[in-house]
Amino acid sequence: MASVSLEGLEKSYGATPVVKGLSLHIASGEFLALLGPSGCGKTTTLRVIAGLEQAHAGRVSIGGQPVEGDGQYVPPERRQLGMVFQSYAVWPHLTVEENVAYPLRLKKVSRADIAPQVAAALAQVRLTGLGARRPDQLSGGQLQRVALARALVGQPKVLLLDEPLSNLDAALRDELRAELGHLRSQLGLTFIYVTHDQSEALGLADRIAVLNEGLLEQLATPHDIYHSPASPFVARFVGGATLLKGRVDEGQLHADGLTLPLPGDCRRVGSTRSEHVTAAIRSEDVVLGEGSTQLTVLARLFQGSTTEYRLRWGEHFLRAHGPWRDDAHPGRPIAIRVRRLTLF
Ligand SMILES: Nc1ncnc2c1ncn2[C@@H]1O[C@H](COP(=O)(O)OP(=O)(O)O)[C@@H](O)[C@H]1O
Ligand SMILES: [Mg+2]
Repeated sequence: MASVSLEGLEKSYGATPVVKGLSLHIASGEFLALLGPSGCGKTTTLRVIAGLEQAHAGRVSIGGQPVEGDGQYVPPERRQLGMVFQSYAVWPHLTVEENVAYPLRLKKVSRADIAPQVAAALAQVRLTGLGARRPDQLSGGQLQRVALARALVGQPKVLLLDEPLSNLDAALRDELRAELGHLRSQLGLTFIYVTHDQSEALGLADRIAVLNEGLLEQLATPHDIYHSPASPFVARFVGGATLLKGRVDEGQLHADGLTLPLPGDCRRVGSTRSEHVTAAIRSEDVVLGEGSTQLTVLARLFQGSTTEYRLRWGEHFLRAHGPWRDDAHPGRPIAIRVRRLTLF
C-alpha cells in the first residue's frame, strides 16, 4: 500500500475549469471516498491520479514518489494502481480468466506465472470456478467482481474505484458493498472510491472528501461529515438537510414569513450574523405533532421503516422523516418542532 498526495491540482476541459486547486493527502492503507454530485470533477480527479489525464497545474505523488507535475509524468502502468470503472469495462470476447490475465499479459508476465496469480485474484473476489465463463454468462455483480479481480491481479498499491456499484440493482449493490468492506479489511491497500451516493461513502470510508464544482468542501470522517457539516452544501448533500435563509432574533429563526424557535441543540458554524443566516435542518430532526410552528403537509410518502413528509415552508418545503401519522394528511396543517439544527 502507498499514500497518495494531491497538491494544488487543476484541470480544465477547453476553457472550463473542472478541478480547481485540489489538495488532499490520502494515507497509506486509508479508504478515502471522493463524494459529490454528478459533474463536480470526481472522475476527472481519479483519472489524473491514474495518469489517464494530465493536470494543467499541481502535483500528484504516490508512495512519496512524484508521478505528475513539475514537468514529470509517469504513465499509468508504472503507477502501481488498480482501477475499477462503473461500466465494468470487461472484454466481451475474452473469458473471465483471460480478462483477469490481461494486465499481466501487457506486462509480459510469463504464462506459468500468470495462472496462479489469476487464480488468486479470482479467489479474492469469490469467483473461483467461473474462470472459463464468458462475460455474457455472468450477472452484473459477477461482472463487477471480474473487473475487481483484474484490478487486483497486478498487486497494486492503490485501488481506484469509480462508482463501481451504480450499475447494479439495490440487492446486489448491498452485497457488493459489504464485500468491498470485507476485501478492504483483508488487503493491505489504499482505496480511493468515487461515488455520488452518500450512503456508500458513509458506510465504507475512513474519511470522505466532499467535492463541489471542483473544490474541496470538507475532508473529515463520515461521523464528522454527517454530524458537523462545514457548509450548507455538505449539510444538504450528505445529510439531506433542508436549507432555510433568514434571520435570527430573540431565539427565533425567521425565514420566508415563518417563525421557528431555535432548539437548545443549535450548532453555529463560522461567524454567523443574526440578520443573515442559513439554517440547515435534517429531516430526522423535525418532530411532527408538537411545537408552536404550524405548517401545511404537502405530501406524505410511506417508505416502510419510515415515512417522508414534505411540509410547506413559504415558497419552499421542509423535509421530515418519522413514523407514519394518520393526522398528517396532505393539505392539512400540522404542528412541528425542530430538535436540532445548524446555523451557517
Ligand atoms: N473529456 C471531457 N471533455 C470535456 N468535458 C469533460 C470531459 N470529461 C468531463 N468533462 C466535464 O467536466 C466536468 C466534470 O466531469 P467529471 O469529472 O466526469 O465529473 P463527475 O465524475 O463528478 O460526475 C463535467 O462538467 C463534465 O461534463
Ligand atoms: Mg464520474
